[in-house]
Amino acid sequence: MMSLNTDPETPVAIGASATFSDLAFVRDRRVGRLATADASGTPSVVPVCYALLEVAGAPAIFIAIDEKPKGDPRSLQRVRNIQSRPDVSMVVDDYSEDWQRLAWVLVRGSARMVEPGEVEHAPAVAAVRAKYQQYASMRLEHLPVILIEALTTTSWLGSGALEGIAEVRSGRDEFAELVRGRRSVRAFSSRPVARWIIEEAITAAGWAPSPHGRQPWRFVVVESPERRLALADAMAVTWHEQLSLDGQDDAVIASRLAKSRDRLIRAPVLIIPCLYLADVDVYPDIDRQAAEELMAVQSLGAAIQNLLLSVYAAGADAGWMCAPLFCPEIVQETLGLEATLQPHALIPVGYAAADPVRRPHRPVDELIVAWQ
Ligand SMILES: Cc1cc2nc3c(=O)[nH]c(=O)nc-3n(C[C@H](O)[C@H](O)[C@H](O)COP(=O)(O)O)c2cc1C
Repeated sequence: MMSLNTDPETPVAIGASATFSDLAFVRDRRVGRLATADASGTPSVVPVCYALLEVAGAPAIFIAIDEKPKGDPRSLQRVRNIQSRPDVSMVVDDYSEDWQRLAWVLVRGSARMVEPGEVEHAPAVAAVRAKYQQYASMRLEHLPVILIEALTTTSWLGSGALEGIAEVRSGRDEFAELVRGRRSVRAFSSRPVARWIIEEAITAAGWAPSPHGRQPWRFVVVESPERRLALADAMAVTWHEQLSLDGQDDAVIASRLAKSRDRLIRAPVLIIPCLYLADVDVYPDIDRQAAEELMAVQSLGAAIQNLLLSVYAAGADAGWMCAPLFCPEIVQETLGLEATLQPHALIPVGYAAADPVRRPHRPVDELIVAWQ
């Protein structure tokens, strides 16, 4: 009898020397390092995605063999190793710069291949799919899976690792690095940006919170050098007028305009996040309507932050220019946008020509003004 056990609240059956807390730690993480050895004892380690299940009331780990563009998945080193030597180990760990939070669990077990049609195969495929949405479209039904059973565990937890550890999600450290590493870049090299980076960033933007889930934002991508130039020239007219109104002298105006123009022309891609209010709730009173639109703008900011983080995570850089806010009609007209698309910002995307100088960030006790 086999049962799926992907719910973090459900205890996992404990093996002879596998502790519940070790197995819960393994179950709640997303990547392990699987060590196998060939007949002569030569080791091999690969990162693996896995699911923890019960087989006949005992914990077991299933690892899918990914659909590969070419070649026989059964010829993979790990598969050949398991077939000649079933003893395997898998390490699942948390790394943190705060070493009190370090933690790892070493699982040892006996592995075998489970072929399509065998009793464990379908639940294994369902379990890895439930855990990793990336498997949704892969034809795992036709591929064998690795089953590791007779599990034993050994673990080590730093003194701070247990505090709230069950709730900590994987990627926490990477997240902190991304948040701190992202920077507003104002000088770009001419290196082009791959299309997937832009698509991934706009996909990330699409996961931002929004009022009633209405997603009141759309994105315009401007890549053609002629269009970027046209946009820079069209906006320069407004910039010039506004800087003159501020009483700036001609030399300062010329220098600022040249810098802004340079950014739009050098960055290989511009993304223009637009507020899109066509789907937001409509209220009879001005106050609630204004609040609804303000929420949409707040949501646009959240979407832009997702976008910026995604670009940075992909190894590229972005900036944030507010210029379209001051001349939305000019941007609409130059790019031929419908009136429902209100350009709110301009995000140049590319690769930094130099690391920008950043202002110091306020410490947390300055940011929290009350904790009542
Ligand atoms: C709404 C908004 C508008 C911004 N507009 C501009 C802009 O027009 N030009 C610019 O160089 N930076 C602009 N920025 C970027 C900020 O200057 C930048 O985020 C800030 O200096 C902190 O630097 P960091 O992003 O590197 O942490 C804008 C940021 C926000 C949130």
